This record gives sequence, C-alpha cells and structure tokens, in this order.
Amino acid sequence: MHRTRNVKRLARLGHVALLCGCLLVSTMTTTDAEDRSAAADIEQRVDELLARMTLAEKVGQMNQVHAGDMDPLEELGDALRAGRIGSVINQVDVATVNELQRIAVEESRLGIPLLVGRDVIHGFKTVMPIPLGQAATWNPDIVRRGARIAALEAAKSGVNWTFAPMIDITRDPRWGRIAESPGEDPYLASRLAGAAVEGFQGDDLTAPGAILACAKHFAGYGEVESGRDYATTNIPENELRNVHLRPFRAAVDAGVATLMASFSDLNGVPATGNEFLMRQVLRDEWGFDGFVVSDWNSIHQLAVHGLTANDRDSALVAATAGVDMDMAGSVYVEELDELVDDGALDIDVIDTAVANILRVKFEMGLFDDPYTDPDALPAFGSAEALATAKVAALQSVVMLKNDNDVLPLSKDRLDRIAVIGPLADAPYEQLGTWIFDGDPELSVTALQGIRDLVGDDAKIEYVRAMETSRSKSTAPFDEATAAARRSDVVVLVLGEEAILSGEAHSRADINLPGAQAELVRRVREVGKPVIAVIMAGRPLTLTNIVDNVDAILYAWHPGTMGGPAIADLLFGVESPSGKLPATFPRMVGQVPIYYSQKNTGKPPSPDKIVHIDDIEARAPQTSLGMTAFHLDAGYTPLFPFGFGLSYADFRYDNIRVSDDEVALGGTLTISAELKNRGDVAAEEVVQLYVRDLVGNVTRPVRELKGFRRLRVEPDETVTVSFKLHTDDLAFFGRNNELMAEPGDFHAWIGGSSDTDLQTAFRVAASD
Ligand code: BGC
Repeated sequence: MHRTRNVKRLARLGHVALLCGCLLVSTMTTTDAEDRSAAADIEQRVDELLARMTLAEKVGQMNQVHAGDMDPLEELGDALRAGRIGSVINQVDVATVNELQRIAVEESRLGIPLLVGRDVIHGFKTVMPIPLGQAATWNPDIVRRGARIAALEAAKSGVNWTFAPMIDITRDPRWGRIAESPGEDPYLASRLAGAAVEGFQGDDLTAPGAILACAKHFAGYGEVESGRDYATTNIPENELRNVHLRPFRAAVDAGVATLMASFSDLNGVPATGNEFLMRQVLRDEWGFDGFVVSDWNSIHQLAVHGLTANDRDSALVAATAGVDMDMAGSVYVEELDELVDDGALDIDVIDTAVANILRVKFEMGLFDDPYTDPDALPAFGSAEALATAKVAALQSVVMLKNDNDVLPLSKDRLDRIAVIGPLADAPYEQLGTWIFDGDPELSVTALQGIRDLVGDDAKIEYVRAMETSRSKSTAPFDEATAAARRSDVVVLVLGEEAILSGEAHSRADINLPGAQAELVRRVREVGKPVIAVIMAGRPLTLTNIVDNVDAILYAWHPGTMGGPAIADLLFGVESPSGKLPATFPRMVGQVPIYYSQKNTGKPPSPDKIVHIDDIEARAPQTSLGMTAFHLDAGYTPLFPFGFGLSYADFRYDNIRVSDDEVALGGTLTISAELKNRGDVAAEEVVQLYVRDLVGNVTRPVRELKGFRRLRVEPDETVTVSFKLHTDDLAFFGRNNELMAEPGDFHAWIGGSSDTDLQTAFRVAASD
C-alpha cells in the first residue's frame, strides 16, 4: 500500500509520455501490478467508508479548523467526536495531537483519523535558507534533503501535512512572498518543486517522518499587481500555461498529495472559485487524485472579492469549482449540509471531495496507525540537520561582486576585522519569514561564525550601528567608522529584517531600508576594503551601494547555519557557488524584469538606447532610440538571472551540438567545455538556455532548459553535456495545446543567463 503515491507518479509519467510522444514509458517497474492492486484496495476502502457516512460526517471531513480557535481537548474534542472535523491546523504539541487522534479514531462513530497541518516552509526547528535562497543553490538534491529534515522534525510534533512547497513563479521583488518562492523561472521552479515534494513525502508515505506536501498557491499568485499582496492577477491562459502552471504540473507528477488554492483573483474569477484551474486543468488534464485545500478563510473571501453575495453562495461556488477542504473558514461546515438538503448542490460533488481526502488519509496509513512516537524520530537540531542547513546556506549565497579579488579574506594576513551592521548578530532575523517553529537558539550568526573561524588569529570588533535594518538614526555611525578605521577590512552585514518580507509584507521601495546606504557611504569614506554581506527576503535594488563596496555576498535569509556558511565563504574555506534565481533590477521601476522576456518588435541594443542625461537641452521633438528601454535605466538588469561569481576562474568554450538537425521526437546533445583556470576547486552551476526563433506564439528570447552543479578542480576541464529531447522544446501554442514545432533554435551554455557562448540547431518535421 505504501508505494501508492509513487505508483500514481509513474502512471502520470505514462500520461506525459502519451502526450509528448516518447519518453519514460520504460520506467514502469515490475512492482506495478502490486502497486495497482494496493491502489485498488484503497479505492475500495474509500468507497466502503463513504457508503457508511452521513452527510454531516462527509462535510466534517471537508472542514479544517484552526487549533487556536478552540480549546483543544474540549470544544475541538467534541467536534471531533461528532465527526465534524477532518483536519486541524497549527496544533504542534505532540501529546495533544496524539490525544486528538485518539478521540478521532476511538470516540467518533467512524474512527476517521485527522490530518494535522502546519506551515513548515523552510524548516521546522532547524531552519534552511528561505525558499528563494534554496532556489539560489540550483540544487534539487539539497532542496530534497532540506525538506526531508523539515519533515522529520515536524513529524516529531505530530504534524503530518505541510503547506509547502510554495511554487509561485514571480518576477516582482516588491512582493513579500517572493521570499517563499522559487523565483522567476518555470524550469528551475519545476525541478525544485519535484525535489521538495519528494523530500517531504519520502518514498513511503506511511513511514514515520513522511508528511504530506501541499503545492501552493494554485495559481498565478506571483503576478499580483505591483507586488501588493493579495492583489488582482490578470494572466492570459497562454502565459499561465507556459509559465505559472508548469511547476504545479511538476509537483503533481512528483506525486504531491495536496494543492492549495490561491487567495488571488485570476482573470476575474478568484482561484478559490476557479473551475478552470481545479477541474479542467488539475483533474481532467493532469489526472490529480489528491485533494485541494482552500487558503486561510479564502472561501468566505469569495464574497469579499465580489464573486458571490454570501457564505452560502461561496460554499456552493468553491465546492463546485473543486475546493475539497475549507481551511479555517467554517463556511463549508456551516453551509454545505443545507445546500445539499435544498438540492442546490449535488451530493456527488461532496462525495468526490470526501473521497479525495479519505484516499490521502488511507495512503498515509493513518487508519492503520494515526499516532506519533516522537522518540522514533531524530532529535531537533540533530547533527545531520545542522550539517544539511549549513550546506544549503553555503550553496545559496551568491557572490555579486568581488573587485580586485578582495575576497576571500586571509585570516593570517589580517590583524583586525570590523564586523558592522544590524544583521551581523541577529539570530532570529537570519531565519527569515515563515518560521513559526524555528528555533533562534540554534542559530549561529555571521558574527559568531567569523569569530569561530578566525579564533585568535585576528581581533574582531563588532558594531551593530543600527537598532533595526529600518533605523534612520545615523548617530551610532561614528562608532562604526572608528572601528573601520582601526581595522584592516570591514564586513558590513546589511539587509532586511525577517519581517520585511513574507505574506502581507510587500514593499514599494526595495532599496536597503533605513539609513543603511548612508552607513555604507560613511564606512566607505574610511578607505578600508568593504565587504557587504546582505541578508534579505528579496532581490533588493543595490544601485545606490554597489559602487561603495568592494564585494557583495548576497545571503538571502540563510537560516540556522547562515553564520558558519558566511564565514567559510568570506575566508575561502569554500567558494561561493549560488546563482540568482531572480533578476536584480537597477531600480524598482524596471519591475517586472526577467531574462525570459519576449523580443518585442523593437528590441533594444546598446547602440539603440539613449540616457536621459544625454538628451540635449531644448531638443526638438525627436526619436530617442525607438526601442523597448527606459530613458533612465536602459534595459539591462543590475545582475541577471543565473549570475553568480566564484573564487575559481571558470571559462566556457567549444559549445557544440551532436547533430545540426534533429527530427521531432528525437534527442540531441548540446555540450561545452568548462575549464577552471583558477587555483581553487569550486562548484559551478552550468546552465543551458535555448531560443525557439519562430513560434506559433512568440517565444522568449532565452529559456532555461537544463542545469548541472558540479565541482571542478584547478586546471581541470570538464565536458558538460545536456540531452535535449524535442519534447523539452514543447510549449503551449495559440490554441493552448502543448506542441513542439519544427524550426530553428539557438542554444547557449554558460554560468549565467547572459552567457554569449552560442550554437544553433534545427528541428525537422518527423517522417
Ligand atoms: C497563507 C498560506 C498558508 C496559510 C496557513 C495563509 O495566509 O497564504 O500560504 O499556508 O495561511 O497558515
């Protein structure tokens, strides 16, 4: 029984195979028959149970309650006994959870166990970097391992369902929830989505330590207007399918058990009431057989959006559209019984929703054993958890600048180091957003990490300089500049506190907040080398500080082990290897800015742009470039997607294709040589981009199609090859059908999306 979700995964891959014409059918294993019979067994148990349920009990399964709203053992216990609750959110005391499970299975009429949900977004007690930071690792394996650790720790508290991974594509760093997202690219996000699902759910959903994943927020939330949280989204279906839905499809293919509907309004129909998303795409096209939960009270909010007049209508619309469970809303539990009794809602809709929920409960093995034995699971903050958090942090940091190789620092050649800034010694802030259970006591800060690494070799002088990252007072800056003056090098640890990103924490100005730019300027004037370590929940606009520092390590919110990771990178124990998962604008007015844009009919180029300062005074009305750029920002970002420097000296060369032409349905190989001409070994993320020159709908100027993280020794040259099947070039065309077309393509391999190492190939029609 326990392989059930994997079986579904294979079955779905078979479905992809049919759609795309070739791959993966051969992945079917000899255990198929066994697994299919386990799935059939579950379906039978679901049907039998459903047949015994009253309408009230069915609606109860569709109701998730917030533990904080009820006394856990009295009110909640009574509702459980009455069969009016299918899931509880935010109960993390294991003894209480076990008691609730006992009441559910022993004292309710049908003994249906509970799902216990919690936002375990990037760790539980041990906190990994924020998801955007994890995306900067470009390492599905570390994402999988991080999710596994989070699952083990959460499960120890009785949690069996997390509301992660969040896989909303976003091109808007103003949006606070970019911190939780995998960034701007559907391919990178899809790879990481699958890895996170595998990490949370494991190979065996019934095993201790496996928890259900929830792909959220379905769909389009990352496009909220001006990055203002909860705002409207308008996304044409073609863009929705080619960009925003892709990671969700990947999560479904990886066997994700649940999805969460988004708060946002999509093209006039809020996602929570959106039948197109939840019935047509998710169920009919993708064959998803887990269940969909609303977002927090989002069924009730359908009336606030103005889609419905009241809770009764909202319940009807959400259930009909395919929301199986109401999160913390009480709308279903108050309205659905009557809607069915009145004949307004078909009982089949309820039965399908309840079957979806029960199926997942059976797959988890909860009917066989709903209890948690915390002693069977590793301790919180175990050595393995901390080691994983450190690797994740190390690989997530992106070096954006390193003038004159000021980094790595050598502790033997330094007598005094000034460590300055509001985030240098902030155990809580470095954990970032969404860390309900994160334990700041486990955090090792940058200051501590540097002290531990340097030991007695150099004197560390620490000045906080600002109360918070938002402080405007410059009074303490004299102390900071005095410390800088006494030191050989200054490490400024700047950025945003945790509370400045995350849900409902959007910003319209994405410069470093408070007086930080002034702090940088004052420290710069001292004349010592200045290294900026920036912890933030989003890409910040760094234009006003970038020229006043010698090096930048962009550390996002790096989590529990951020400090030792930063120290190792500063002192060259490891080389930086993170790559940007989102474009860094020069100024906020460029947003949205992303690498996979369309070409437009008037693409800009360096010779076709004019800067505002170069316009002649009293110029007659004249054309200024006549291409797609801003007079005051040009058209390039400050740092492009995929960018990140290294202590190694990586050179790419000799890109080639195995065949100049490949027939539809065929595969070709694109390779290049990567040489490390430096004198340290380092990891590099090699990236493959492709452009489809002519399409049935216009195609992006570049699209990521593959990447690989590898370690290269000094003087070593490695050949990196990517296999590309013509299905990998498929996109949703004018009729919103997935298609791969014959035609001409360009391909690039390199260490960033702006690599210019290019080749070309042709896809021919199949015979
Ligand atoms: C968020 C979800 C989260 C839920 C439960 C909502 O406000 O949008 O992402 O899972 O709360 O905490």
